[in-house]
Amino acid sequence: MNTYDSLNRPLRDLRISVTDRCNFRCTYCMPKEIYNNEYNFLKRDEILTFEEIYRISKIFVSLGIHKIRITGGEPLLRKNLYKLIDQLNTINDIDIALTTNGVLLKQQAQQLFDSGLRRITISLDAVDDNLFKLLSDSSYSHEDVLRGIEKSLEVGFKVKINMVVKRGINDQHALEMIEFFRNSNVIIRFIEFMDVGSTNHWNENSVMQSQELLKMIENNYKVNKLEKNYFGEVANRYELQDKSLEFGFISSVTEPFCSDCTRIRLSSDGKLYTCLFSLSGFDIKEKIRSKNDDKQIINFINSIWTNRNDRYSELRNQSILSSNKNKIEMPYIGG
Ligand code: GTP
Ligand code: 5AD
Ligand code: SF4
Ligand code: SF4
Repeated sequence: MNTYDSLNRPLRDLRISVTDRCNFRCTYCMPKEIYNNEYNFLKRDEILTFEEIYRISKIFVSLGIHKIRITGGEPLLRKNLYKLIDQLNTINDIDIALTTNGVLLKQQAQQLFDSGLRRITISLDAVDDNLFKLLSDSSYSHEDVLRGIEKSLEVGFKVKINMVVKRGINDQHALEMIEFFRNSNVIIRFIEFMDVGSTNHWNENSVMQSQELLKMIENNYKVNKLEKNYFGEVANRYELQDKSLEFGFISSVTEPFCSDCTRIRLSSDGKLYTCLFSLSGFDIKEKIRSKNDDKQIINFINSIWTNRNDRYSELRNQSILSSNKNKIEMPYIGG
């Protein structure tokens, strides 16, 4: 069964944040001056249980969801995450993927693979340690992430690397990333820095535009453009002509992809968000905990999706949007 929103977009992807906590403090996501010891992280009973997530996921699959992505915060901080993967893996015909900062993969990759997970996206913004530390603002080194990447490849995962590119900060390091990951069987995606939430000091000048980055790469390598893999894929794909590396650009600022956006997000505290830039969510946790049956939950989701008209990135330049200070923050809904 397929459910369409008011702009005729089907509901296909569910992104689930399993925790609002993270062991990094990336400046573009959880800046330390806000996410410090005084920050009010969610309490255990505010967070959805695995049983609740499983039930919600099953209902979503009956409504047309094909892909589930587990995110955070840092999802590997959620205790026994592999048990959730075990459960989700019992649902037929879904593609399950995980987005992580990678430092806990060394310990967890094998268990996640054994639970049926096959695809992992790992965030890594630099292979230069000083720059990595500047961007992730954590005590980890980029080598901890590299060990997680190696381990994931070793156990058999398909691995993508997400690099958020900030102008004047790590843009010149894109070439170093390309050189570093050639022939290593990972796919790199360069992501334009976005104005998610309202605490990451975003401004237009800090966005490294994908076109400019592509030119920089083309000045150094011969590249081929590749077709999209599937309808609604957010990355524009390329490869080095010698086929030693596939890379892509996710250009939500300069080339918005709202017209194909089939994604709904479930926050760690059990709210549904119809856009990464939503101002408020719909409380599905309350519906689940107040003993609504599946039919009532289905009606709830259907009414949310059929009324959906979000296209924030296409409207970004209308200044009322960007200046709004109440957008949901990234750690609640993941990337
Ligand atoms: P697969 O093709 O399933 O591997 O994943 P994907 O290409 O959809 O990529 P992923 O889900 O890892 O998303 C990568 C990044 O793209 C995110 O971390 C965000 O920065 C950005 N992104 C993903 N979805 C959206 C979206 O709906 N809106 C906007 N503006 N950005 C998005
Ligand atoms: N802009 C773009 N991408 C972001 N992410 C988090 N914050 C931002 C932002 N401000 C994405 C990155 C990261 C994932 C967890 O979330 O892709 O890899
Ligand atoms: Fe943590 Fe990922 Fe956000 Fe960085 S981008 S603070 S690793 S959730
Ligand atoms: Fe989808 Fe909102 Fe992102 Fe547009 S801005 S692609 S509607 S999540």
